[in-house]
Amino acid sequence: MDRNLALEFVRVTEAAALNAAKWVGKGDRTAADQAACDAMRHTLGQMDIRGRIVIGEGERDEAPMLYIGEELGTGEGPAIEIAVDPLEGTNLCANGMANAISVLAAAMEGEGRLMHAPDCYMDKLVVGPEAKGAIDITMPVAANLRAIAKCLDKDVDELTIGMLDRPRHEKLISEIRRCGARIRLVTDGDITLGIAAIQPDTGIDALMGIGGAPEGVITAAAVRCVGGDMQARLVFRNEEERKRAETMIEGDVDRVFYTDDLAKGSVMFAATGITSGDLLKGVRYTRDGALTESIVMRSASGTVRRIQTSHRFEHAPKY
Ligand code: FBP
Repeated sequence: MDRNLALEFVRVTEAAALNAAKWVGKGDRTAADQAACDAMRHTLGQMDIRGRIVIGEGERDEAPMLYIGEELGTGEGPAIEIAVDPLEGTNLCANGMANAISVLAAAMEGEGRLMHAPDCYMDKLVVGPEAKGAIDITMPVAANLRAIAKCLDKDVDELTIGMLDRPRHEKLISEIRRCGARIRLVTDGDITLGIAAIQPDTGIDALMGIGGAPEGVITAAAVRCVGGDMQARLVFRNEEERKRAETMIEGDVDRVFYTDDLAKGSVMFAATGITSGDLLKGVRYTRDGALTESIVMRSASGTVRRIQTSHRFEHAPKY
């Protein structure tokens, strides 16, 4: 993935974040999501790429824009697979709560690949580079906690595990607590938790538990960029979801998916904060514009950039 292209993608998440930020705390998650989609689609459309959405807002008949298979860009330049989540944490944004972000991952065709994940759940285990190779999602939670703690040179009771606050995690939560580790529960947004887990000094040592599969693939792109480790299993609520997965994924859909299965080769990841949270500051308005904070990563170089941008609204595009 070209280094300049990776930076171009930050403009895309910045635009989506700025447009969604108008809806922070206004109680309308649909309008917030729409605003993020409008801006993201518009900005992607201006890029000199032959882009194709592989993870988006849904199938063509259910999503009017950023649908799976939609082709975006000027048509000049490299062929790129793009996985988008224009507004990750629709409720967080609508309620003015922490951790709403705009995010995307991309892979240049021929150099990298993102799994075309169906819209089902995914059980995820994510750690940073220090614990690479030490985790095994098929092992009991206690074994993984011990392995992670050893790699981080910590005691298990010094670990903090991030996960979504869901009734389905009741057993997982009690197992982690029985081992003495600490838990950070969030109401939404497990991409942010996954990215926090692979970054140093965020206070989160691992992501565990079940969230969206598309979010899992986007997380995996970031994991790949920093050389972290991710293991995952798809979780189906019904036979229809399983059948759908079988049409989209080669091989056994019940297998463990490793980082390389989810995001392979040369990939990049970009995210911009909408509301301030564990990873990024949100959009802050100034006299004549707004400030944004973004993070961009590229697997080819392993670089992680944090970008603070001052936007002037007199130059802002209209969507
Ligand atoms: P939205 O942005 O679509 O609201 O998704 C937020 C999210 O919390 C994701 O971060 C997570 O992967 C997924 O929803 C979990 O789904 P569910 O709310 O059904 O548990």
